[in-house]
Amino acid sequence: MEATAIQPQSYPRTTPEGWSHTPQDRLIVALDVPSAHLALDLVDRLEGTCRWVKVGLELYCAAGNVLIDTLRSRDLHVFLDLKLHDIPNTVAGAVRTLSNVGASLLTIHAAGGEAMLLAAAEAASIHAQSPQLLAVTVLTSMDAAQLAGIGLMVEPAVQVLRLAHLAQTSGIDGLVCSAEEIEPVRTSLGFAPFLVVPGIRPTGTSIDDQRRIATPRDAIQRGASMLVVGRPITQAGNPAQAAQAILNDMARPA
Ligand code: C5P
Repeated sequence: MEATAIQPQSYPRTTPEGWSHTPQDRLIVALDVPSAHLALDLVDRLEGTCRWVKVGLELYCAAGNVLIDTLRSRDLHVFLDLKLHDIPNTVAGAVRTLSNVGASLLTIHAAGGEAMLLAAAEAASIHAQSPQLLAVTVLTSMDAAQLAGIGLMVEPAVQVLRLAHLAQTSGIDGLVCSAEEIEPVRTSLGFAPFLVVPGIRPTGTSIDDQRRIATPRDAIQRGASMLVVGRPITQAGNPAQAAQAILNDMARPA
């Protein structure tokens, strides 16, 4: 059953093709499996409940652009989550190469710094069909202790805000952050960035390796543009049922 449109608190300034206010256009299922065969099997088991899928490092290394073509031919929108992080010249080259593979969204690490972000934004601007770039701020699997472990003595929210500003001023419209940082980011940036939020855990499900988590409904109510959900759907006995329960939760009124 088609869930009704959500009225979000804030509207993103730029949205990728295939995005709308309905839950189906705001849920991305992370196909974190090691082969095209397993990915397409998962897509079959979703039984049309979802319109967006995420191809991450594991699957892209195994199946590459051919799989993106196949997913597109099944009318799915593709979020290519490669989290590029290298010197500016290398990242710009990768963004150019990925500009026509059919993905709607592509991630780069904001921690790559201003020059890298500027180079990526410029590379993406060359091709009209280039995916919209999202800057990954602080991974949702990291808490303050883990940031300290890599020499960053800051709360995750502070670091996310710092990187969000950097990404914005470098011409990157979209961000990946946890639900905990949505409100501070929207308040602080003073515009409506496109916010993609992983670390989603329906009530009662395992948090796995994630640290900064929220339920689907909470993340939407706080102002997420899209949610990324992997294991709560992909490892469920019935992925279509798990996805539908998440879509229903997203649509629940405040
Ligand atoms: O299985 P789970 O729902 O935890 O999967 C979350 C997905 O979101 C994974 O594919 C992971 O790579 C991705 N992701 C994340 N944190 C980020 C960016 C992406 O968990 N900051």
